[in-house]
Amino acid sequence: MAEQTTESRKQARLAILELANMISVPMSLNAVVRLNVADAIWEGGSNAPLTAAQILARVIPDGGGDAENLQRVLRMLASYGVFEEDIGSGERKYSLTEVGKTLVTDEHGLSYGAYVLQHHQDALMRAWPLVHEAVVDPSKEPFERANGEGAYDYYLKKPEMNELMLKAMSGVSVPFMIALLEGYPGFQNVEKLVDVGGSGGDCLKMILQKYPNIKEGLNFDLPEVVAKAPQIPGVTHVGGDMFKFIPQADAIFMKWVLVTWTDKEIKHILQNCYKALPAGGKVIACEPVLPENSDDSHRTRALLEGDIFVMTIYRAKGKHRTEEQFKQLGISAGKGYRCKEDEDCPIPWCRPLLSVCTNHQCICMEV
Ligand SMILES: C[S@@+](CC[C@H](N)C(=O)[O-])C[C@H]1O[C@@H](n2cnc3c(N)ncnc32)[C@H](O)[C@@H]1O
Repeated sequence: MAEQTTESRKQARLAILELANMISVPMSLNAVVRLNVADAIWEGGSNAPLTAAQILARVIPDGGGDAENLQRVLRMLASYGVFEEDIGSGERKYSLTEVGKTLVTDEHGLSYGAYVLQHHQDALMRAWPLVHEAVVDPSKEPFERANGEGAYDYYLKKPEMNELMLKAMSGVSVPFMIALLEGYPGFQNVEKLVDVGGSGGDCLKMILQKYPNIKEGLNFDLPEVVAKAPQIPGVTHVGGDMFKFIPQADAIFMKWVLVTWTDKEIKHILQNCYKALPAGGKVIACEPVLPENSDDSHRTRALLEGDIFVMTIYRAKGKHRTEEQFKQLGISAGKGYRCKEDEDCPIPWCRPLLSVCTNHQCICMEV
């Protein structure tokens, strides 16, 4: 018993040290994205195990750099499943795991790398030491305390942040939309669709490609955001503020928009959605959905960590919500709610989708 206690205390001390040093993980991930290590290893699909010196020669072709320090970073990230470490030949060599492959640039110039960079920009990093302030006084976000204004306003004044946000959203949204469109039939009878908070318009573009019945697609986002959006056939970019007005359509699509707002703000957005819709129209909202119970799975952790990200960067009372919380919000906004457990719900694919997209699930509210 005494021995067990000693062993469990030793494990506890190791666990707290691991947590205290955890910042090394995202910052090293940020470093390998900055250095473009994933593309260097991938090299058109070979993914052959390479030493740190070989990888360094690819990321800094003119020479220089410190292979030992790169190896330290790769080795630590291998322990988190980003790289596969091979020491069979007597040298440490690294290839990409499935996780590491998400950082490889695809044929459209996209990867999850921009999302990693977007989360670790200086302005966001300044907010993190202030998380406790969101507990003491949630009337002001840690991001605003650190930078003098809210995140979206701040991004809009900095073209490079605005552009990185667009790229980050494209990088994570395209794979999500491929999975969604494989299973979700809810766009079948829609002729006019608006994507609220649609960023560069990637989601709408993909929906329109699959559903030619949609004759008109409106990509609605802040004016500064749509000003940078690319031209997309069939898509009209509309600049505006969803708290003031949402363009009329048969259906409204919204992905990863509600999550950054408070309950009161969501009620306001949903009421503006309902004003824009005819009877029988619908709001298709894709948002992270928190499980009721906490556990240490990747999905639950990704959701709970994302929840703290929202609290720190966007809204101290914006949050990831459970399905029941979404249901109550839909009802409080004055309309019904159809959830995946409703036998009439058109989205029986919710559960399969979950296994594809590790941390997202769809809810559907009909007017
Ligand atoms: C997390 S991003 C999601 C982007 C896109 N839906 C996707 O999933 O790729 C949230 C989007 O909401 C937009 N947004 C923020 N405030 C807004 C407002 N008041 N009116 C319209 N869009 C807004 C942001 O500019 C951003 O593009």
